[in-house]
Amino acid sequence: MTKTYAVIGDPIDHSLSPAIHNAAFAFLGLDCTYIAYRIPKGELSEGIESLKLINIAGFNVTIPHKIEMMKFLDDMDEDCKTIGATNTVNNENGKFKGYNTDMDGFLEPIKQRNQSCKDSNVLLIGAGGAARAIVAAFAKEKAHKITVANRTREKAEELVKFANNLGLESDHTDLVNAGNTTGNYKFIVNATSVGMKNNTSPISTRMINKDCTVYDLVYMPVDTELLEQSKKQGATIIYGWEMLLAQAMRSFEIWTKRKAPYEAMKLTLLGRF
Ligand SMILES: NC(=O)c1ccc[n+]([C@@H]2O[C@H](COP(=O)([O-])OP(=O)(O)OC[C@H]3O[C@@H](n4cnc5c(N)ncnc54)[C@H](OP(=O)(O)O)[C@@H]3O)[C@@H](O)[C@H]2O)c1
Repeated sequence: MTKTYAVIGDPIDHSLSPAIHNAAFAFLGLDCTYIAYRIPKGELSEGIESLKLINIAGFNVTIPHKIEMMKFLDDMDEDCKTIGATNTVNNENGKFKGYNTDMDGFLEPIKQRNQSCKDSNVLLIGAGGAARAIVAAFAKEKAHKITVANRTREKAEELVKFANNLGLESDHTDLVNAGNTTGNYKFIVNATSVGMKNNTSPISTRMINKDCTVYDLVYMPVDTELLEQSKKQGATIIYGWEMLLAQAMRSFEIWTKRKAPYEAMKLTLLGRF
């Protein structure tokens, strides 16, 4: 019988996940299909019931449900527990087990470049859901310190506490000061949504230099203003689509226990931009 997978969230109509996963299923000849299912905020409980009724085989979770979904899980893996959010659920004999593939998906492109996070100083711009997975990733890799710059100060303060609880030294600053001090960091990560809609950077790029690695989680457009300017100034850059692909590959492997077909998924993803 065909197995059905899904991504749940709201908005969901522009999600690239159905295209990537369906390409992978087709490439490996698996009798599986993947759909986008819009569940508005406040309707998660009903949405989960309907997924159970169709015997969903597994699903991805995106904005705004990554944290709330935790209370509907029967079991979870360590990364999911640490981050306090899930982006991947697997139906294991009727039980929903939660995973978080954002953390390893984030680290994968760094590792592909043979870069080490150990003892590094990190500037993290943003303090939303994605930023939590990134803090957990740098804690796992034993970074030296993470500085959080966020528009809303209270959220930055919360994330600093979260980092400290994971044993990672951390402080916070504002977006203007962050832009003036970029030269102090090995890694600069944009985990805000700034850059998606118009050609703006969340911080000034003036001081970014060739010793910095600049990683933008925004994947649409591919070349954000932050990445364009950083590239011009000689920095190493990492694209948001690389993380998107890496976290999708990990979800696929959890569900199917098969090695995800990198090229098929990458070609499909890049073809959508
Ligand atoms: N590449 C990938 O695989 C991947 C994975 C996950 C997420 N993402 C992307 O990462 C971004 C953040 O996602 P999320 O889930 O963390 O979202 P979120 O929880 O809604 O957080 C949004 C963040 O952006 C900041 N922000 C929004 N508008 C801003 C503005 N005009 N000026 C300054 N800061 C602003 C918010 O600051 P405040 O706290 O002040 O509101 C907050 O820090 C999105 O673009 C998402 O598509 C990419």
